[in-house]
Amino acid sequence: MHDTIRNQFEQDGYVVLEDFLRPAECDEIKAAGIELAKNVPETEQKTVFATTNEQDIQRTKDDYFMNSNDKIRYFYEERAIGDDGKLKVDPAEALNKVGHALHLLHPIFRCYTYSDRVKAVCHQLGFKEPAVVQSMYIYKNPRIGGEVVPHQDATYLFTEPIPPLGFWIAIDDATIQNGCLWMAPGSHKSGVHRRLTRNPDKEPAFIYDRPAAVYPESSFTPVPVSKGTCILIHGNVVHKSAHNKSPNSRHGYTFHVVEKKDNNYSPENWLQEGEGAPFLNLYTTPQMV
Ligand code: FE2
Repeated sequence: MHDTIRNQFEQDGYVVLEDFLRPAECDEIKAAGIELAKNVPETEQKTVFATTNEQDIQRTKDDYFMNSNDKIRYFYEERAIGDDGKLKVDPAEALNKVGHALHLLHPIFRCYTYSDRVKAVCHQLGFKEPAVVQSMYIYKNPRIGGEVVPHQDATYLFTEPIPPLGFWIAIDDATIQNGCLWMAPGSHKSGVHRRLTRNPDKEPAFIYDRPAAVYPESSFTPVPVSKGTCILIHGNVVHKSAHNKSPNSRHGYTFHVVEKKDNNYSPENWLQEGEGAPFLNLYTTPQMV
């Protein structure tokens, strides 16, 4: 049978789309990402984003994260900030990521999110009323870019019965050395293994409903890709990425799409639709404001 992206998506839980963006388009996005890193407003607090320490929860940090749905906010690498709260490394290489409303607030990211190519993929996967709900520019900077432990995106963004869809676009070549994605093919067929939910007015602000699942190393396969490749990620597929120990950056642009038609968006997700962060229908939203 002819292997469509839908067949492959259903079989493996991810699909690799080479040449999704042209090199010059990646260069434009990369310049925008670097520009953001070079111009972090003085007023921004220095908040670390790391997936390795689940106990590292503080109210201010959680608020900064939780209220980033309609803003462009800056999250640092754990290794970039000293005990005195000051940067230990070049500010241009200190960020873990920027998020979560680039698709709404930044003209370049908006343009590449609400594109005909993205719409075509959603059509092909059968989305009736897809909405982009969050976006992130991920730096994975040389030597400092931290690992992302095995997880399912649906742990953080739970929708049922139709799980969310991630677009992950390599802005640099992603290699085993600089921390490419590792996927567990077929793992999306085993449901959602745990959820992170809001814990209103209490400490901590988010709670997991159960401990992290343990996955055998052998279930993961590395997916090195060249710049411009898009990896489509099923919300329930288990994936991870390693610490970037190389001298090369591994920038990426990623955003998530949820089905709005006949689908429930959990009110317990950290990310909620807001006045400044509407979940706009991808098919009818223009690329330019
Ligand atoms: Fe993920």
